[in-house]
Amino acid sequence: MAIQLPNPIDAPRVNGHAKSRPGVAELDPSRLNVTVTQSPKSIPPVETLKFGQTMTDHMLIASYDPEHGWSDPEIKPYGPICLDPASSCFQYSTNVFEGMKAYVGPDGEVRLFRPDLNMARMRRSAGRVALPPFDTDALLTLIQRLVQLESRWIPNIQGYSLYLRPTIIGTRPNLGVTASDHALLYVICSPAGPYFGAGSARQISLLANVDVVRSWPGGTGGYKLALNYAPTLKPQQSAELQGYNQVLWLLDGKVTEAGAMNFFAVVKQDENNWDVITPPLDGTILPGVTRDSCIALSAAHPSRTTLPHLPETLHLHAHERTLTMSDLKQWHAEGRLLEAFTVGTAVVVTGVGRIGYDRTDIVLPEHACGRGPVARALYERIVEIQEGKFEWEGWSVVCKTANA
Ligand code: COI
Repeated sequence: MAIQLPNPIDAPRVNGHAKSRPGVAELDPSRLNVTVTQSPKSIPPVETLKFGQTMTDHMLIASYDPEHGWSDPEIKPYGPICLDPASSCFQYSTNVFEGMKAYVGPDGEVRLFRPDLNMARMRRSAGRVALPPFDTDALLTLIQRLVQLESRWIPNIQGYSLYLRPTIIGTRPNLGVTASDHALLYVICSPAGPYFGAGSARQISLLANVDVVRSWPGGTGGYKLALNYAPTLKPQQSAELQGYNQVLWLLDGKVTEAGAMNFFAVVKQDENNWDVITPPLDGTILPGVTRDSCIALSAAHPSRTTLPHLPETLHLHAHERTLTMSDLKQWHAEGRLLEAFTVGTAVVVTGVGRIGYDRTDIVLPEHACGRGPVARALYERIVEIQEGKFEWEGWSVVCKTANA
């Protein structure tokens, strides 16, 4: 049954963008103040980068209060923020974030990948926890300014990028259980390589968790809220202790997500027809940008584009449909489960080698490069688009220069 998602935001809209309360200031890139650091950090060698560990020199920040609206945005040296201990974000988890990446391609241009989708999702997520609305175009312009300033941090190596973490937190300093009418919006940046470590061209293992769920009908699984992640940390530790890399999240036997990623299975109809299946956006699944891109690119092969290394005689059929553990077991028993893979901004596309369920493992074919043919084709094409080597439907957006 399709689940009705809550109205994402209760605010007036202009040109499709959520607006602040009438009479208060909008987020306004023309009022940006930039303070450049006097002590730039040295950039660590890429081999030493671990996901999310190194922060760049600057951050973008703006605050919201109900009287004035959005403050003048500021780019300033990266550093701690000072908050009242009673702040809504600490007490009631009014924390929303996004994951995006900036890439530099062989032409030296800096690009973002489908950033409009991140902005729209962030606005929806903020609305879900009653944080104030913001103009998505304005935030994207500000992010582009930050990325330009930090461009020396973007490794010019395939598979490496600058991970961006736009965040909005509720800062109302009051213990009453009420919407936070004060907020802080900030964006921090971290140079990133392969999420599971450099040289990890291997398939990951998943342990299906039958005891706890990540999301449920009418819940918040379809929004990028920090509160969705905290309860996954203990089950993740437990999966690791049992020898698996990530948790495969289920809901009544239906696959929802894997770790903090979307899940795909590739199932053979016959030699020339393969189904590429991912669970539908029924409110329990995060509408991932990479997920959407994998569906679109799969559906386009071979009629609109030929994905790397895949024959034109092979037809991929993309489906958003319920996927159960029984389906996976049956397809595996019939020899039709060709691949499973997980996708997300941080991981891009990662192959799955083994799924633990009901005390046995579903073992998938091993691939020397760590991805089966479909996962590899999608990974390579997405990276080509991200780095500006392959043009596809305007997905790759060149960052405007500071003067543009
Ligand atoms: C991402 O892929 O950006 C994610 O959100 C996953 C995780 C790093 C939180």
